[in-house]
Amino acid sequence: MSAIDCVDTIAEVRAGLDAARSRGASIGFVPTMGALHEGHLALIREARDRDDVVVVSIFVNPTQFNAAEDLAKYPRDLDRDLALAAEAGADLVFAPQVAEMYPPGATTWVDVEGLTEGLCGAARPGHFRGVCTVVTKLFNIVGPDRAYFGEKDAQQLAVIKRMVRDLDMRLEIVPCPTVRETDGLAMSSRNVRLTPEARAQAPLLYRALTEALVAVENGERDAVRLKAGICGVLADADLARIDYVEVVDAETLQPVVSVDRPVLIAVAVFFGDVRLIDNVTVGV
Ligand code: PAJ
Repeated sequence: MSAIDCVDTIAEVRAGLDAARSRGASIGFVPTMGALHEGHLALIREARDRDDVVVVSIFVNPTQFNAAEDLAKYPRDLDRDLALAAEAGADLVFAPQVAEMYPPGATTWVDVEGLTEGLCGAARPGHFRGVCTVVTKLFNIVGPDRAYFGEKDAQQLAVIKRMVRDLDMRLEIVPCPTVRETDGLAMSSRNVRLTPEARAQAPLLYRALTEALVAVENGERDAVRLKAGICGVLADADLARIDYVEVVDAETLQPVVSVDRPVLIAVAVFFGDVRLIDNVTVGV
């Protein structure tokens, strides 16, 4: 028997968790698309610390990809992921095929309005609808007490929190801090697709964000000037093409004119066809 149970059907997940649930064990859940790295493993370890049973899903969800090519290129290595998930403390991995999650004839979607329109939603129409639908399905399959999400995907986290609140889902969403490489680059499954030249420039995203944080600490409140400062730092990355640089209200994700409340400073940058995102929050 392997150290970790890996199942690929909804029925097996439910059967596997029934006993735990009936003895009152708490279930912690970490949804992922695999290609696990330290960012994912930090979520699994946090779940291990807080919950009795830890479930990880590995599913490259086709409905949240805009380009078929991006979906095809998404890195996949289940054996490696299982070993890493086990080491981080997962008890059960759910790694379904697409047909298990989307049987023919499925036509129901979960759509969170407003919050999904700006930032990544603008460039990726339908992306968050795919995320919310698959996360709802996974919550219904696993029935977790807590689900763990990374602050790296700040908009996704805000959207999921809103969905849970609006639809009265009975679980707690636990935000976890962004895990970074030593040079500051936020860990991402996409980083392996950067060319060496782009990889060398990519830490400028976080440098630009930390400089903005310092500017706020030094009294800068003007969103336009903060954005200009970030663009100025990113100009040193000649391979980067900026998708967006935004200063938004941390809760509503609406752009702000002035940093007079908690804000999220978020950037998305293309290096070739690899799109990287990062963000910092500023409490006032
Ligand atoms: P994926 O990109 O695999 O990320 C899974 C979880 O890991 C998300 O909550 C994400 O925010 C978190 N994560 C990724 N990189 C991180 C980092 N550097 N530090 C901390 N946490 C990090 O996000 C998805 O998958 C999908 O949209 C999903 C929610 C699974 C739905 O398909």
